[in-house]
Amino acid sequence: MSIDFRHSISRRRFVLAAAGVAAATVVRPVSSMASAVDERRVRIAPGQAMFTGASGPLTPVWTYDGTVPGPMLRLRQGQPARIVVENGLNEDTTVHWHGIRLQNAMDGVPGLTQPPIKPGTDFVYEFTPPDAGTFWYHPHANSLVQLGRGLAGALIVEEAEPVAVDRDLLWLLQDWRLAADGQMAPGFGSTMDAAMSGRIGNIVTINGTVPIDQSVMAGERIRLRLANASLARIMALRFEGHRPVVVAVDGQPCDPHEPEGGRLILAPAMRIDIVLDMQGDPGKRYAVIDDFYDGLAYTLTTLAYDTASSLRAHPLDVSPGLPRNPLPEPDLAKAERQEIVLQGGMMGGGKLAGVGGMMGMATPGMNGGAAWAINGMSMTGDGHAGMAPQFTLPRGATCHLTMRNETAWWHPMHIHGFSMLVLARNGSPVPHRQWQDTVLLAPKDTIECAFVADNPGDWMLHCHVADHQMAGLMTVFRVT
Ligand code: C2O
Ligand code: CU
Ligand code: CU
Repeated sequence: MSIDFRHSISRRRFVLAAAGVAAATVVRPVSSMASAVDERRVRIAPGQAMFTGASGPLTPVWTYDGTVPGPMLRLRQGQPARIVVENGLNEDTTVHWHGIRLQNAMDGVPGLTQPPIKPGTDFVYEFTPPDAGTFWYHPHANSLVQLGRGLAGALIVEEAEPVAVDRDLLWLLQDWRLAADGQMAPGFGSTMDAAMSGRIGNIVTINGTVPIDQSVMAGERIRLRLANASLARIMALRFEGHRPVVVAVDGQPCDPHEPEGGRLILAPAMRIDIVLDMQGDPGKRYAVIDDFYDGLAYTLTTLAYDTASSLRAHPLDVSPGLPRNPLPEPDLAKAERQEIVLQGGMMGGGKLAGVGGMMGMATPGMNGGAAWAINGMSMTGDGHAGMAPQFTLPRGATCHLTMRNETAWWHPMHIHGFSMLVLARNGSPVPHRQWQDTVLLAPKDTIECAFVADNPGDWMLHCHVADHQMAGLMTVFRVT
């Protein structure tokens, strides 16, 4: 038995849906099917999840199309997509297509890039994904609560040519803080969470359920797309008895490499695609362990080998590398240098580090207000109109961005609209030519990145620990 977690609509059904009723009766030539727009409707509404399986308690959640996570959307590189989003919640929302380099007006930040989608209304997102890879989507309104109640889904952009693997799997990882009766624990936005590590939960799900064994076959090659859609939990995954090869980070192919110490560090919003050659023994079981937090290691799931003998006598010798995406190359010699400094958070002795000026509105229901700042300025809540940009870049310029973490906490810093080439960490060059939209800074880290500012608009740059973003660890920059 093999478990394929894809509950996606296939490309073929996608296209047929786009072609409408006529497609049911008319046989269309392949060429015209391939040029159709990828079209979808997604409805946001309350629902119920069974995180711990059919015998467990039901958890009230908010959903895309009735499921947590939402449907896996599969789009094609360079192919226009049209996604109609219907808001069936009692509050405003938006959808942000995390990691997709798209037009500013489609970026889904309320106030900044679009008016919020009011309850009972629709918004049409149209964009053409330039990059193949693993991305995801989530709201950018009342983010902590909406993401925390389940609104997240994977967005896969397929390569033009299929990649040579036996199976393509996705693990969308989510961390939940549940009460004993299975309800979401209250207290979203507590001051403690906001000023410390964020709302870390007590159960982790893969594709919406507490994981059972993952069935695998000896000898098969799996592309495993890992996506961390948690509010705050950072993960470090180890595959006992296996040697995962990282082939893409945040959707962008990198030089294939084994991760340092065999650990895959996945902070909130990050994705890592790995290629796993299943070289374990038939009938055996191997643990997948998350040991990010000291003393809190746990077995996330288990790779359970079928008893059948290996699919192949020798491991595949095809290189696992993926074709690079068309990212503009930074011109470092002529780069504009910008620096952002992350400040605030709880210090030793329970004191809050001083945060300076406050910009924007404290979010109703947040009991904290600002706990963090970027360059002395706290932008709290979500997007809103009139956010003054921290810096402005002329279109086409290379930006050399230094991010300095003065706090005692970890921060996955996320940039909208761009992928950044990661140059150096604490002065040492970062190998493997990794492009990322979300870069994890350890306490006191300094990271240097570069990107070409080829996409005009006002873009958000923020920590993806949702509590941190809401409590001020957010800024905006402008490309003219
Ligand atoms: Cu994943 Cu500003 O977002
Ligand atoms: Cu984003
Ligand atoms: Cu943070």
